[in-house]
Amino acid sequence: MVSFKDLGLVNTRDMFAKAIKGGYAIPAFNFNNMEQLQAIIQAAAEKKSPVILQVSKGARSYANQTLLRYMAEGAVEYAKELGWENPQIALHLDHGDSFELCKSCVDLGFSSVMIDGSALPYDENVALTAKVVEYAHKYDVTVEAELGVLAGVEDEVSAEESHYTRPEEVIDFTSKTGCDSLAISIGTSHGAYKFKPEQCTRDPKTGLLVPPPLAFDVLEEIEKKLPGFPIVLHGSSSVPQEYVEIINNNGGKLPDAVGIPEDQLRRASKSAVCKINIDSDSRLAMTAAVRKVFNEKPGEFDPRKYLGPARDEMKKLYAHKITDVLGSDNKAL
Ligand code: G3H
Ligand code: 13P
Ligand code: ZN
Repeated sequence: MVSFKDLGLVNTRDMFAKAIKGGYAIPAFNFNNMEQLQAIIQAAAEKKSPVILQVSKGARSYANQTLLRYMAEGAVEYAKELGWENPQIALHLDHGDSFELCKSCVDLGFSSVMIDGSALPYDENVALTAKVVEYAHKYDVTVEAELGVLAGVEDEVSAEESHYTRPEEVIDFTSKTGCDSLAISIGTSHGAYKFKPEQCTRDPKTGLLVPPPLAFDVLEEIEKKLPGFPIVLHGSSSVPQEYVEIINNNGGKLPDAVGIPEDQLRRASKSAVCKINIDSDSRLAMTAAVRKVFNEKPGEFDPRKYLGPARDEMKKLYAHKITDVLGSDNKAL
């Protein structure tokens, strides 16, 4: 049993309380490899932003859960080396799908876990979430739960269309489970294709797809039912069209990729939404940078020569999200 406190990590309790009060959101960035982790920490340290490092099921099978945990421990020291005296870094299990998995992450030193029972019948979601909360709270590890189903693929959870969170269920769910934060569905979804072209309109000037707005009315109803309770948004990548263009101009093929416009995320950040999950944008930044090097310098075969630019591009992206979208800069001085 390792306590996250001994690793220099923090749970999300204080982070979220301050974010709700201050009208900003904490970035939750997924990581699978060293370059992503370096870029996240460089951006967070430069911006003095609290940050949540997320480990998904895909990341665990790609990089190994234990290795990722040690990397996160190293990240705390790296942040200090970069001059961030008081790093506020949480290590979070993204989309945990069983009690055993959540327990193993708690025991390994994660400071926060998500139990995603959103695809289960309501009562089973309540029972599973409550069981995880009971265990995690013994070690002061915070727990994120989910109500409502996002469109697309949630690790192994798939749904044809998004089922918005039902505001009438949130009081019962949070009081029965004791969860610390609640992921809701208001129209976001995972990946780089969040909406079908037929769900969007086209900007007559640019020809780009304009997605339908998020269901802020549902969010407001939830906020009214749970004043001051931390709300989480998954599937919040914006799919920057500059990256899509670079990818497509350098041998890639991402037709009609579309994300959540940043102005909508800015608006959400000012509400009870205090954690915003971003993964796909980092994948796009990395892919764009790597494709560009491969296309422009076909003789290059030193991975540092293409992963280095990819890391720089991801750092730029994370810094932009922190300052210009979530507003979490200078909140962990
Ligand atoms: O929730 C989805 C995240 O983007 C993680 O996806 O399981 O492919 O790493 P992944
Ligand atoms: P994106 O695919 O929009 O980046 O969402 C990531 C996410 O929600 C991770 O849990
Ligand atoms: Zn997610």
